[in-house]
Amino acid sequence: MEKIAVYPGSFDPVTNGHLDIIKRASKLFDRLIVAVLHNSSKDSLFTFEERVNLLKEVVKDIDNVEVDCFTGLLIDYCNNKKVNAIIRGLRAVSDFEYELQMAQMNRQLNRDIETVILTTSTKYSFISSSLIKEVGKHKGDISQFVPNNVSKQVYKKLHGRE
Ligand code: PNS
Repeated sequence: MEKIAVYPGSFDPVTNGHLDIIKRASKLFDRLIVAVLHNSSKDSLFTFEERVNLLKEVVKDIDNVEVDCFTGLLIDYCNNKKVNAIIRGLRAVSDFEYELQMAQMNRQLNRDIETVILTTSTKYSFISSSLIKEVGKHKGDISQFVPNNVSKQVYKKLHGRE
C-alpha cells in the first residue's frame, strides 16, 4: 500500500524553509500532498489560488509531490485522502507548544494518522512567511529566503512591481 503524507499550512507565501521540508518529506513517503489552508477569515497577502499556484511552480520538478487546498478540519481532509501522516516543520522551541498541541489534538481525532515533525535545517530556522512579508514591505532583499518566482510575486503584490 502506498504511503501518503500531507504537509498542511498557510504558505503565505512558500519559503525556502517550506521547500526544504517538502523535499525531505517527499523522500520519506510515496506521495506527498502539500495542502494549502483555504481560510477566508485569515488576513493573507496572497489569495489561496495564488498560494497554490506559487507552490505548484516551486514543486513542479519533484515527481511525487502534488499541491491541493482544503477547508475545515485538517483531519477530515486527511481521512478523505486516505493519508497516513501529517508533516510539520519545527524551527525553534517557540514552535514546539503549538505543534505539540495540534499533533495531540489531531491524534485524538484520529489515532490512525500520525504527525511526523521534521526539524528545519538550521540555515532556514529563522525564516517565516510573516517575516518575509515584513522585510518585503520595507523593500528589503528577500530573494535569499524564498524561491525566485515567489520573491518577484511578493514585491509585485506589495509594491506593484517585481
Ligand atoms: O502554516 P500554519 O498557518 O502554521 O498552518 C496551520 C494549519 C493550516 C496546519 C492549521 O491551522 C490547521 O490544520 N487548520 C485547519 C483547521 C484544523 O484542523 N484545526 C485543528 C488543528 S488541531
